[in-house]
Amino acid sequence: MKKEKINTAVLGASGVVGQVFVQMLTNHKRFEPTVITGSDSREGKYYGDEVQWVLPDPLPEPARKLKLETPGIDLLKKRNVKIVFSALPANVAKTLEPQLRENGFYVFSNAGALRYDDNVPILIPEVNPGDLGWITKQGYPGNGFVVTNANCTATGLVTALAPLKKFGIKELFVSTYQSISGAGYPGLSSLDIMGNTIPYIHGEEEKMKTELRKILELDAAIYTHCVRVPVLFGHLETVWMTLESPVETPDILDAWQTFEFENANIPSMPRYPVVYDDNPQFPQSKMSFWGSPPGMQVFTGRLRKENQKIGFSLLVNNLVKGAAGGSIANAELFINEYGIY
Ligand SMILES: NC(=O)c1ccc[n+]([C@@H]2O[C@H](COP(=O)([O-])OP(=O)(O)OC[C@H]3O[C@@H](n4cnc5c(N)ncnc54)[C@H](OP(=O)(O)O)[C@@H]3O)[C@@H](O)[C@H]2O)c1
Repeated sequence: MKKEKINTAVLGASGVVGQVFVQMLTNHKRFEPTVITGSDSREGKYYGDEVQWVLPDPLPEPARKLKLETPGIDLLKKRNVKIVFSALPANVAKTLEPQLRENGFYVFSNAGALRYDDNVPILIPEVNPGDLGWITKQGYPGNGFVVTNANCTATGLVTALAPLKKFGIKELFVSTYQSISGAGYPGLSSLDIMGNTIPYIHGEEEKMKTELRKILELDAAIYTHCVRVPVLFGHLETVWMTLESPVETPDILDAWQTFEFENANIPSMPRYPVVYDDNPQFPQSKMSFWGSPPGMQVFTGRLRKENQKIGFSLLVNNLVKGAAGGSIANAELFINEYGIY
C-alpha cells in the first residue's frame, strides 16, 4: 500500500534554517520530518528542550517531542529515509553530502559546499527548473544526488531578475542590507551588531556574482556591496542596472506581474514569485514573513528609471525562500517530475 507521507531527515535541525525546515515539514502534506539531527552533544535530547527557537510563530507542538540524533548514513538507512534536507555548516556538508549521495540519498542542501560543482544544480523552481535534470550527471537513478539552493541573497535577486533577463542585463549594481539571522545561531555578538551596521560579509559578494552567473547564465558586469544590519529577518537589496533594450518601467512591471508559477503539486511555491507595490515605503525588512506561502514571495518596490538605468528595491526572506522553503520546493519539484520509490 502507498504510504501517505514520505520520510525525510533534517540535518542541522537545531539551527535557524533547520527550524524553518522543522516548522514547514511538520505541517507538510507529503513530507514527514522523521529524523532530525544536531551536533553530537544533543544526541537523544528532545527538540523542544534543545532548540533556541527564533521564529515569529511558535514551535509546533508535535515537534517538541522529536528527539535529536547525530547525522549518519546508517541512521538514515535504518529509519527508511530517502530525502534529506541539509542545513549543515559548509565544512560539515563538504564531507557528509557526497557520502550521502554515494549511498543513494536525495539531498536538498542549503550549504555552499557543493554549489559550484559542475554537475550540481543551484535550483530555483520558477527560474531554472530544467537544471533539475543535472541529477542524472551525478548518477541518478543508479545513485543519489545533491541539489542545492542559492545563497539567500542571490536567491532574491535571481528571482527578481529572471523575468527581466530578456531585456539584456549589461551591468548590475547591487547593495544589500542583510539580517543577522543570515549568520545562523548564535551568529554575531550583540556587541558587534546592536545599533551598528557592518559593511562586509565574508565571501558574500563573490557568492552573489558566481551564483547569478551559474543560475541565470548572465554575462553582465556585476558590482556588489553586502552589508549586515541589525534586523532579525529578511535581506533587503537595492539594485541599479543597465539594459540592452530601451525599456521603460511599465515593461519591467509587466514582466514581474506576468511571471507566474502554477503547479498544484508544488504547494510550497507561490503562484506569483515576485510581488510589486508602488508605495515608496515598500518593501521593508519587517515584512519578510508576509505573502503566501509566508516568506516565499520576493517583494519589489521603488521601481524607477534615471539616466537610462533601471532601479528598484527587493526583499527576500533569507530563511524561507532563501533557504528551507526553497529546498522544500525543490524536493516537491523532484517528486513531481520523477516520483519516488
Ligand atoms: N541563515 C541563513 O539565512 C542561511 C540562508 C541560506 C543558506 N544558509 C546555509 O544553511 C546552513 C545552515 O545555516 P544556519 O544559519 O541554520 O546555521 P546554524 O544556525 O549555525 O545551524 C547549524 C546547524 O548545524 C548543526 N551542526 C553544526 N556542526 C555540526 C556537526 N559537526 N555535525 C552535525 N551537525 C552540526 C548545528 O547543530 P548544533 O545546534 O547542535 O550546534 C545546527 O543544527 C549553512 O550552510 C548556511 O550557510 C543559511
